[in-house]
Amino acid sequence: MEALKQRILEEGIVISDQVLKLDGLLNHQVDPELTMQMGKEFAARFREEGVTRVVTVESSGIPAAFATAYELGVPLVFARRKKTLLADPDALCERVPSFTKGIVTDILISRQYISENDRILFIDDIIANGDAARGVVKIIQRSGAELVGVGIVVEKSFQAGGRAIREQGIRLESLVRIMSLNDGKVTFED
Ligand code: G4P
Ligand code: NA
Ligand code: NA
Repeated sequence: MEALKQRILEEGIVISDQVLKLDGLLNHQVDPELTMQMGKEFAARFREEGVTRVVTVESSGIPAAFATAYELGVPLVFARRKKTLLADPDALCERVPSFTKGIVTDILISRQYISENDRILFIDDIIANGDAARGVVKIIQRSGAELVGVGIVVEKSFQAGGRAIREQGIRLESLVRIMSLNDGKVTFED
């Protein structure tokens, strides 16, 4: 997606060889126009899959996942980050480490919003080591739903997350793939 590459070059801040700050378009500010384009692109790629629900994780996955769900005309379900007193006691829960936060978190989805009759498209903003994604994939599998694919806005392909998901035989589509952040510079694949 060319417009997205352009915005990443304009707004992305290379923090280290591993981390690209994307607050201007994904993690703090959202451009509705660009985000709707992301949704159109994911919807086009997965249109034939009979998706019944889009799933993401709060918080930064929500805008792109919402745009995708809107385009496909299906509900968006976002996994919650931690248990609250109001959480469904038998929600599906996975504990995952977080690369940028350096902590473990629980992610959960109520069984009310995901069932064995669903065909799920999982959308997320960034994939790094893929810990969060692996947790969501496990929750979807435990629910008995069919995971038809994963859509990622920015895949850091020098980290193993995307590859690990594909090695499970899951279709993963990313809108841009970053192959390196070396020398303070964003280098895309292709
Ligand atoms: P992954 O499982 O999604 O691959 O990510 P990982 O656990 O490795 O990283 C956890 C969090 O760090 C995720 O956000 C992920 O989007 C974010 N992250 C990883 N690498 C980068 C990076 O280079 N730049 C930025 N901006 N974020 C990165 P999260 O915990 O899901 O938080 P939220 O943003 O959804 O609230
Ligand atoms: Na994030
Ligand atoms: Na995220």
